[in-house]
Amino acid sequence: MCGIFGYINYLVEKDRKFIVDTLLNGLSRLEYRGYDSAGMAVDGNKKNEVFAFKEVGKVAKLKELIEQSATDMTKTFESHAGISHTRWATHGTPPPSELPPSPNSTDSILIHSSDPLWEFSVVHNGIITNYKELKALLETKGFRFETETDTECIAKLAKYLYDQHPDIEFTVLAKAVIKELEGAFGLLMKSVHYPHEVIAARKGSPLVIGVKTSKKMKVDFVDVEYSEDGVLSAEQASQNVAAKKSATSLLAPPDKSLLHRSQSRAFLSDDGIPQPAEFFLSSDPSAIVEHTKKVLYLEDDDIAHIHEGQLNIHRLTKDDGTSNVRAIQTIELELQEIMKGKFDHFMQKEIFEQPESVVNTMRGRLDVANKRVTLGGLRQYISTIRRCRRIIFIACGTSYHSCMAVRGIFEELTEIPIAVELASDFLDRQAPVFRDDTCVFVSQSGETADSLMALRYCLERGALTVGVVNVVGSSISLLTHCGVHINAGPEIGVASTKAYTSQFVAMVMFALSLSEDRASKQKRREEIMEGLGQISEQFKQILKLNDPIKDLCAKFFKNQKSLLLLGRGAQFPTALEGALKIKEISYLHCEAVMSGELKHGVLALVDENLPIIMILTRDSLFTKSLNAYQQVIARGGRPIVICNHDDPEFSSALTEKIDVPKTVDCLQGLLNVIPLQLISYWLAVGEGLNVDFPRNLAKSVTVE
Ligand code: F6R
Repeated sequence: MCGIFGYINYLVEKDRKFIVDTLLNGLSRLEYRGYDSAGMAVDGNKKNEVFAFKEVGKVAKLKELIEQSATDMTKTFESHAGISHTRWATHGTPPPSELPPSPNSTDSILIHSSDPLWEFSVVHNGIITNYKELKALLETKGFRFETETDTECIAKLAKYLYDQHPDIEFTVLAKAVIKELEGAFGLLMKSVHYPHEVIAARKGSPLVIGVKTSKKMKVDFVDVEYSEDGVLSAEQASQNVAAKKSATSLLAPPDKSLLHRSQSRAFLSDDGIPQPAEFFLSSDPSAIVEHTKKVLYLEDDDIAHIHEGQLNIHRLTKDDGTSNVRAIQTIELELQEIMKGKFDHFMQKEIFEQPESVVNTMRGRLDVANKRVTLGGLRQYISTIRRCRRIIFIACGTSYHSCMAVRGIFEELTEIPIAVELASDFLDRQAPVFRDDTCVFVSQSGETADSLMALRYCLERGALTVGVVNVVGSSISLLTHCGVHINAGPEIGVASTKAYTSQFVAMVMFALSLSEDRASKQKRREEIMEGLGQISEQFKQILKLNDPIKDLCAKFFKNQKSLLLLGRGAQFPTALEGALKIKEISYLHCEAVMSGELKHGVLALVDENLPIIMILTRDSLFTKSLNAYQQVIARGGRPIVICNHDDPEFSSALTEKIDVPKTVDCLQGLLNVIPLQLISYWLAVGEGLNVDFPRNLAKSVTVE
C-alpha cells in the first residue's frame, strides 16, 4: 500500500529531466501496490527552492502535470536529492483538496520554500497514529495546516524544531522528529536547509536502499551508529512526555556534541574522499533492480542519512540488540521478472508462471529421487517445533486460505494440535499464546500490518515464531526466529495467485520435514513427495484449459449477481480462495460454502438460476460431496463441476465440467484452485475491469 521512491546523485551530473523521469519510473514500478494520488519534490532553480508536484490519479497524470508545468527540464545538477510517492488515502478523501495552495504563486503546482510546508518535504508510507495530537500541539505554536494528511505534521514538526535550532544537523533533527512519531511508517525527508541530503526512516514499513558507485565499494556493509546517550536526555524525555500530555511544549533536540559521526566506510576512496555515487530509495526492490543490484535493507527504527555520497545509519537507542552493521547485498531479481512480457496483466502472467514458481519453491529443498526434504531456514529449529504443544498458523486473506488448506496434512503427519487464525481476529480476542507454542506467520508481502502485529504479540509471549514469506528482507522475515522463503518471485498483481500455490507447497514441505522422524508416516510422506514432483507438469495441463474457461465465463456468469462455490474437507479452503479471487477482481458476490453445511440453510438459495461451482475431485469425502451435488440437482440447480479427468460420475454430456488431473488428496487443492483463478481473471476481463488494480484494494495492507 503506497510506495515511496527517492533518487540521490552525488558528483554525477544529471539534468532535471533525468531526475524527474527516474522518480516517475520508480513510482510506476510501485503502482501495483495500489494508490490514488502521486507526488514528488525536486530542487528548484534557485537555492532554497523546491518544486513540488502532486496529482490525483495515476503516475501518468503526474507526468502530464509536470510536462504542462513548463518547468525547465534542461537544468543540470551535479548533486541532487529527489523524493516521490504514490499515496493511498487512509483517512479523508484523496486530494485535490489536499494540494496546498501556494501563497506566493498563482501556479498551484510550484510551491516555494517560503511556504513553511516545503522547507521540509516528506513522503511517507503507513500511518502516524498520533498525528492529531502533534497537529494540535503545532497549532498552538502558530502552525496552520493545509491538508488532512498525517504527513504534513511530520514536515511541520521538523520546521518547528529547525526554527528553534537553525544550526542543528539533519540527523539530529530527524531523530528528534522521528522519536515523536507513533505508528508504522517508512519515510523520506529532504529540506532546503540540507541541500542534496535525504533522511530515510523505517518503522514497520519496508525501505530498501540501492547503491550505485563507479568504483568497487571498499566493504559490503554499513556500520550502524548508536547515540551515546540515546536521542534524548532524561530531562528532554520528560519534556517530551509532558508535551504529549499538555500539548504546550515540544522536546528540545539533544546537544549535538553527544553524537559521534562515524565514517561510512563503504563509500570512501583510499584517501578517505567520498566517491561519485547514486542512491535509490524505495519501498520495494522491484523499483531499484533496473538501476543497481546492490541493496541494503533498513531494519525497523533505522534512520539512514544520505549526504555527500555517503550513507550513514543511525539508531535512536543504544545497544538495542540489533546487529551493528547492515549488509549491502546483491539481489537476484531481474527486470523482466517485474515486467508483464507477453501477458495483458500481471495477474495473468502470475497465474501462468505457476509451473515454474512452484518448482522454485521446491528447488534445492525437495529431493524426490531420494525422498528427502531439507528446509535450510528451519533446520536448527525442527526438533524444537516437533516438541511444541501446538502450532498456530496466523495470516490474512489468501495466505490464511493456504494455511487452512494445509491444516489437515499437518495434523495427519505431525499429530500436533493445529490452529489456524485470522491475524485480526486473533488480536481482537487477545488469544492465549504460550512459550511452548510455535506460531507460523504466512504472508506474501511479509508486511501485512495485522500479521505483523500478531507476530509482535506472539514474540512478547515467548512463543517460537516461524515466517513463511515471499518477500526477502520483509518485516516478517526479519522478525521471526526462523522460516522459509517461498521463492515464488515478485508478485505484482494485487490478487495473490502464485504466492498461494507456493505457500501451499512450502508448508507441505514443512509438514514433511517435521514428520521425518516418524516411521509410521514414511509411506505417506513418500507418496506426497512423488505428488509434489509432478505438480508442475499438472499445472501446465490445467493451464491449457484457459480458452474453454474463458468461454465458460462468458456463457454462464455474464451479468450474474452472485455465485456459489461449494467444497468439502480440504477443498473448502480451495472454495474460499476461489470466492475471494472472484469477489476482489470481478466484484461479483461469490460465497464459498462447506458443502456439508448446505442443508443447514444455504440450500434455500439454490434454484435453476443461481450459478454454482462445485469442487468434486475424488478423495475420502467424495461420497459425501456427491450427496451435496444430488441435493443441488434435486433443487433444479445446474452446477459446474470441477472433477478429475474421465470421472464416470460426471460422464453425462449434460454436465458442465472442468477436468483436472488427479494427485494425492492433500495436494489436490493446488490443482483445483487454478481453474478458479482463471475464472476470476476472465470474469473481470469480461466486465472490462482493471484486473491488476481492483477498486479499494492495495497489494500490501500495511494498516490495521
Ligand atoms: C487476495 C490478497 C489478500 C492478501 C492479504 C494478505 O488476493 O492478496 O487477501 O492475501 O492481504 O497479504 P500477505 O500475504 O501479503 O500478508
